[in-house]
Amino acid sequence: MTTPKKIWSMLSGRDTQPAEADGVETQGEDLKFTIRKYRTRDRDAVLAIAAESFAGVCLDENIEKAFGPVGADWREHKKDSVDYDLINSPSDTLVAVADGEVVGFVCNRIYHSRSLGHVANLAVATRHQGKGVGKALMQATFAHFRRIGLQYARIETLEQNERGQKFYPSLGFQEIGRQIFYFTKL
Ligand SMILES: CC(C)(COP(=O)(O)OP(=O)(O)OC[C@H]1O[C@@H](n2cnc3c(N)ncnc32)[C@H](O)[C@@H]1OP(=O)(O)O)[C@@H](O)C(=O)NCCC(=O)NCCS
Repeated sequence: MTTPKKIWSMLSGRDTQPAEADGVETQGEDLKFTIRKYRTRDRDAVLAIAAESFAGVCLDENIEKAFGPVGADWREHKKDSVDYDLINSPSDTLVAVADGEVVGFVCNRIYHSRSLGHVANLAVATRHQGKGVGKALMQATFAHFRRIGLQYARIETLEQNERGQKFYPSLGFQEIGRQIFYFTKL
């Protein structure tokens, strides 16, 4: 069994395992999965997870609840925002795979001038949440950031996302500010 700590050391290159290993297998609660880099053929599965996993914790859904569909269903907007990162930062995107199926992903944006990695989108398929996949994706992201020489990481979560507010501080993130989102019909 590979513990999350072991994944961290392997992906960060602090082990004998090559830093660019194709994937590292781990055993979460009730689920055996591998974290590896995103491949173009993962796109449909990643977008499907984006569409189904963010219910209740998505700004576009909040807008739709208040104003009705804005151009398209909120899930399409979420997919678009994830697709933007798949197109622009494919090599900084990681996926979790169980039984040959993508069960989670994390999209990252890199700002070398600020030595900063921005975690833009993170999601685990609803049926596999709470099994350690999200934590493993974040640990692998930290390892990726360190490997490419970054010193800082950033992530945002909505106040209504109780899970995120517990999860991110547990990874070492410190709250640095809150923002209020406004929207109006013109
Ligand atoms: C948030 C998310 C990525 C976490 O991934 P996950 O695989 O479900 O989470 P894990 O099992 O790895 O648990 C990670 C941490 O999340 C928190 N967490 C998980 N399940 C939780 C629950 N039911 N209630 C509260 N916190 C919970 C805990 O802090 C947990 O760490 P711990 O096990 O050390 O206590 C996933 O639940 C998800 O996709 N949610 C919907 C989309 C989303 O909110 N994305 C992030 C937007 S900022």
